[in-house]
Amino acid sequence: MKSDKYHKNLVDNSNNYHQQNYSPVEDTDMLDKCQFYGIDPLKLPRHVAIIMDGNGRWAKKRLMNRVIGHEKGSETVRSIVTLCRELRIAVLTLYAFSTENWARPKAEVEALMGLLKSFIISERDSLQKQGIRLEMIGQKNKLPLDVRQELDITMSHTAQNSKMCLNLALSYGSREEIVNAVRKIASKVKKGKLSYETITEDVIAQHLYTNKLPDPDMVIRTSGEMRLSNFLLWQSGYSEFFFTQTLWPDFTEQEFVEMVKDYQNRDRRFGKVVCSSNDCSQH
Ligand code: FPP
Repeated sequence: MKSDKYHKNLVDNSNNYHQQNYSPVEDTDMLDKCQFYGIDPLKLPRHVAIIMDGNGRWAKKRLMNRVIGHEKGSETVRSIVTLCRELRIAVLTLYAFSTENWARPKAEVEALMGLLKSFIISERDSLQKQGIRLEMIGQKNKLPLDVRQELDITMSHTAQNSKMCLNLALSYGSREEIVNAVRKIASKVKKGKLSYETITEDVIAQHLYTNKLPDPDMVIRTSGEMRLSNFLLWQSGYSEFFFTQTLWPDFTEQEFVEMVKDYQNRDRRFGKVVCSSNDCSQH
């Protein structure tokens, strides 16, 4: 029998920043999943962000076209989305296409846009059934019209869902996002709607694409590369980072679970120290 304190902590720590009437105490499916995987339901990350890298190398190793790697990568997307939903992780952000990716060969860009479009259409009903809301960050106006139209349909179709937010970073680049925010702020200052003294970290955060989202607790990158590649530079200031050699098409639910467990053992101090009397007393 769990204590009242356990239940209170579960509610306080629940990832329900946008989930009205969500009671983790009664969410037996989530609690069962956590028990099955050995995950502590009190310490789940609210927001996980993933740089899905290595599709090309996965295909190359098999002497296949890079596009096959992206197709296989889409299957991994489906399984990780479902797992995050089962664990009630509130936000999953996936870096699906960067501002720099437009410079790839035309055929690959077209194939990636085609894959995105198919995913957005084919997952519409499944997202709805799972109560997942689709959102995006990035330069929506740069996407091909047909992709934008399907995106709008799925986003409006799922807009009321509150079990999880699947946030796709599309034509996304953190530096572009910051430039865009600075321009909006400067324009408000110019029009006298904002005075420059009142520009704070919060004001900047409110002008980013991610303004409605909590900062990522975990940032994962697959394929052995150890860099951020222009992904959530502002937002990941205090994120916990996880790198794996696994190429994205081979990334499994079990590996994701191991990362969550590792996250749960990390001491997040956000730059502060917890003093014991010996450490901090004045001499
Ligand atoms: C990086 O691997 C991956 C991308 C640029 C695209 C990611 C896209 C998908 C996983 C599929 C479509 C997305 C969704 C949401 C359905 P890379 O091509 O740079 O790999 P490499 O470094 O091995 O060449």
